[in-house]
Amino acid sequence: MRSLDAVSLMRRIYSAALYRLHFRVLDPIAYAGEPESVKRTTRLCDVTITSRHRDGGVEYTPTPHLIVRWIRHTLPSDVSNWTFIDIGAGRGRVLASAARSPYRMVLGVEFAHELQQDAEVYLKSLPRRHIRAGDVTVIRADATTFSIPDGPCIFYLFNPFSGEVLRRFLDHVIASHKADPRPMRIVYFNPEHGELLDASDHIRRSPLRLLTRAKFALLSPHQLALYEITEGSCR
Ligand SMILES: C[S@@+](CC[C@H](N)C(=O)[O-])C[C@H]1O[C@@H](n2cnc3c(N)ncnc32)[C@H](O)[C@@H]1O
Repeated sequence: MRSLDAVSLMRRIYSAALYRLHFRVLDPIAYAGEPESVKRTTRLCDVTITSRHRDGGVEYTPTPHLIVRWIRHTLPSDVSNWTFIDIGAGRGRVLASAARSPYRMVLGVEFAHELQQDAEVYLKSLPRRHIRAGDVTVIRADATTFSIPDGPCIFYLFNPFSGEVLRRFLDHVIASHKADPRPMRIVYFNPEHGELLDASDHIRRSPLRLLTRAKFALLSPHQLALYEITEGSCR
């Protein structure tokens, strides 16, 4: 028991050090064109949220740039039929990156008014020549009730909410898949409630490539888990 505690303490200290490395050293040199506000962590008590899931939300912190790039390499190589959806899009860093790939659509879902507005301004400021996605939007909505686009969807989650809200979000996604079966993937960074996906009959975990697993284990402050939605019988 004691040695387990020591191992998890060491892991926490290592994660905290990696977190500082990404935010203090790597992010500032990764992409100079980003508005300063995107980098700023924001507590949800400092922004306007009308959703009843406010208390289940996690504060705004952007995904580190290097991680955004690594995650891109875990996605389909031909994304022209896919919609990329950032669930809890914050100030739009991940959306701005996805907009540079030829997705059918890039959609952000963010329930905090000020964050959604900042993301909108940021996306509008992107040079047109950099945008390869068909459509790029960020809506102010709750992740458990927004209208899920048709066609294949990739849902990106950077640990946006509690287990309770995640359960509702998964029910929403599975209902959409039952009504219109189509390829759906979930990319879960910092999968704090991954056990909920692992326990679902409608969700199957996809293995990560060895190199990706090694990079995340050694150099990312958080782990990554990939899933796909299934019909529910083929586990
Ligand atoms: C950890 S931040 C991730 C930001 C962004 N996805 C990124 O990776 O750069 C989590 C975000 O989820 C948003 N959020 C939390 N609960 C939500 C909900 N129920 N519906 C929509 N957005 C939510 C928060 O406001 C916050 O901006």
